[in-house]
Amino acid sequence: MQKIKIGVINVSDRASKGIYEDIPGKAVVSTMNEYLISEWEPVYAVIPDEQDQIAAKLMEMADDEKCCLIVTTGGTGPAVRDVTPEATEQVCEKMMPGFGELMRAESLKFVPTAILSRQTAGIRGNSLIVNLPGKPKAIRECLDAVFPAIPYCIDLIDGPFLEVNEEVIKIFRPKADKSK
Ligand code: MTE
Repeated sequence: MQKIKIGVINVSDRASKGIYEDIPGKAVVSTMNEYLISEWEPVYAVIPDEQDQIAAKLMEMADDEKCCLIVTTGGTGPAVRDVTPEATEQVCEKMMPGFGELMRAESLKFVPTAILSRQTAGIRGNSLIVNLPGKPKAIRECLDAVFPAIPYCIDLIDGPFLEVNEEVIKIFRPKADKSK
């Protein structure tokens, strides 16, 4: 059976220097622990808002570590140092704009500043890369919105079969639903 590895990259100048605690990365790991029944292993990084470093880490997690999913936190806004979406586009063969569209639409129910996030998603090889904003509350709100489509997306890119706790998150897998 394929080992399930999920990459978690906290993109933050201050967290990478140890000025801030890595709360966003931990928020992703604890949300995944709630969602997933399948055994999985996090591949973890905290790096500064540098496009080259983000791109290199995304490539390493996709190509060498073989993470089926890579979640970034932070660096999606309009500030000069916010370059996570650019790094994501740089390394992806296919962009998946529906993720950003849905996350912004859902986030708008919570904060008007949701439109300030340029978060996106894309495919590199057998990895799905998803950008999330940096605030822990935003991380959960965005993951709850898009995660229902993530296991099927990973099926489509020949990744491992993710089993989830349907009491926590309801997912949709068209192929498995043929009887309905
Ligand atoms: N989305 C949700 N769900 N909740 C939030 O509080 N904050 C917004 C936006 N998206 C927010 C959100 C704000 S204030 C900004 S500036 C952008 O995400 C970008 O955040 P980032 O730079 O941490 O990626």
